[in-house]
Amino acid sequence: MKVAVLGAAGGIGQPLSLLLKNSPLVSALACYDLAPHTPGVAKDLSHIETAATVTGHVGPEQLEDSLKGCSLVIIPAGMPRKPGMTRDDLFNVNAKITVSLASAVASACPEALLAIITNPVNSVVPIAAEVLKKAGVYDPRRLFGVSTLDIVRANTFVAERKGLDVTTVNVPVIGGHSGVTILPLLSQVTPETSFTDEEVEQLTTRIQTAGTEVVQAKAGAGSATLSTAFSAARFGISLLKAKGGASDVVECAYVESSVTDAAFFATPVRLGPNGLEENLGMGELSAFERAKLNDEVMPALKANIAKGLEFAKANL
Ligand code: NAD
Ligand code: LMR
Repeated sequence: MKVAVLGAAGGIGQPLSLLLKNSPLVSALACYDLAPHTPGVAKDLSHIETAATVTGHVGPEQLEDSLKGCSLVIIPAGMPRKPGMTRDDLFNVNAKITVSLASAVASACPEALLAIITNPVNSVVPIAAEVLKKAGVYDPRRLFGVSTLDIVRANTFVAERKGLDVTTVNVPVIGGHSGVTILPLLSQVTPETSFTDEEVEQLTTRIQTAGTEVVQAKAGAGSATLSTAFSAARFGISLLKAKGGASDVVECAYVESSVTDAAFFATPVRLGPNGLEENLGMGELSAFERAKLNDEVMPALKANIAKGLEFAKANL
């Protein structure tokens, strides 16, 4: 299957492309970016002894070529945070990038699965949906906001805190991908694990603020790139496995949803040949999680979605 990475020369795009080049499910990898060193990134990757052919594409006139025949398009293009910024501060720049790249997907590979990493995910995924709708090619089963990093972090932090083997831990994380909209469901951790109230408070806050932890540690040089690439590759490869017929592929993702009254919401979803096959919902929440959902997640997430939709209304 052909996969395109849009923003392939960036901090996430390069290691993400490396991980995809290493996957036997990828037969062709198209690396697209505005940066002039993109052909060099593609050339470098092309020397790796795996089956995927690699092509480099620079600038809007080469975008369509990168997208033609794609089964999956992953978008990490866009500006990252610096210390003191929220993800919402990236809105103005990244909303425009999302419109231009989603428009290209709509015309060059309308049937492809589209996974968006660009922040603020909560707002730009609804924008991409409007772009695809306007082009008459929107299928909600094929559009995903990538929130896998929240699950990866939650698994790591819970395993560390409880002394568990991290490879066995799974923490569902629902809501959105920003601040208080990130809601880890510690009551649903597998293997079944009990937490004190203090552990729940501390782990929830740590998972919600982990992105900021990295932004501060990088001190102006950007946000999480390597753990994001790992997470997006995990999600992308799950999409490809399911597309290829594997059964029981489940990931959390930010998708169009009727689970709550927010139009987009992250939950565990079962993936299939056409993308989202079944939304598995949020299950039964603890009193702590229910209160967080109602008081913090829903108002913030709905505002983020409304902001995206207003932008789309004014600009498409
Ligand atoms: P970066 O600046 O290192 O790379 C971004 C790349 O996008 C650059 O190479 C740039 O040239 C390219 N680009 C910009 N506009 C483009 C366009 N119109 N078409 C093609 N390429 C374009 O940034 P990064 O660290 O890789 O982060 C990228 C985005 O991912 C940011 O918005 C960041 O906030 C977001 N992010 C999301 C998650 C997540 O879990 N969803 C995690 C980390 C970062
Ligand atoms: C993250 O969670 O690391 C990303 O969304 C990047 C950021 O700005 O925190």
